[in-house]
Amino acid sequence: MLVGRKVPEVTFRTRVRDDSIEGPNPFRWENKTSSDYFAGKRVVLFSLPGAFTPTCSTFQLPDFERLFPEFQAEGIDDIYCVSVNDAFVMNAWGKSQNLVNVKLIPDGSGEFTRKMGMLVAKDNLGFGMRSWRYAAVINDGVIEKFFEEEGYADNCETDPYGVSAPQNILENLRAKAAA
Ligand code: BEZ
Repeated sequence: MLVGRKVPEVTFRTRVRDDSIEGPNPFRWENKTSSDYFAGKRVVLFSLPGAFTPTCSTFQLPDFERLFPEFQAEGIDDIYCVSVNDAFVMNAWGKSQNLVNVKLIPDGSGEFTRKMGMLVAKDNLGFGMRSWRYAAVINDGVIEKFFEEEGYADNCETDPYGVSAPQNILENLRAKAAA
């Protein structure tokens, strides 16, 4: 049971724009820790099997992006999307999606996902180790709610998506606020 536990403390290797760098690729490495992302705020984190994959690009990421104001109304400060992809891939995906609200976290080595207990093999798709789909409400680094898709398994032939969808999380947040 992950509820009540702190998220793993890891260092993510991000790439950030730096206009002081000349040339066609003005980006530099910037380390960001779990504390940088999670300390002192209440956020939604969602995790998916891969950048640019169909369900993630057509529904999950755009829906979280669009519904951000409704999450804010329920006391959520930020929405993060983590995937076992490197910073170059995650940045390219964010650019292609015109993201403004959702912040992408590159877990290229899979360390965060492994320590969350959510790393699965997707060798059946040629993906290697990736994340099982889940989402969480995290308050000051502590997991408050956890939404895990059913059937956690290596080389799963299906890709369940529903429990970790933004609509389901919003419904849960609203129901608890009304209770
Ligand atoms: C999808 O998002 O549709 C997807 C994710 C992982 C593998 C294949 C498809």
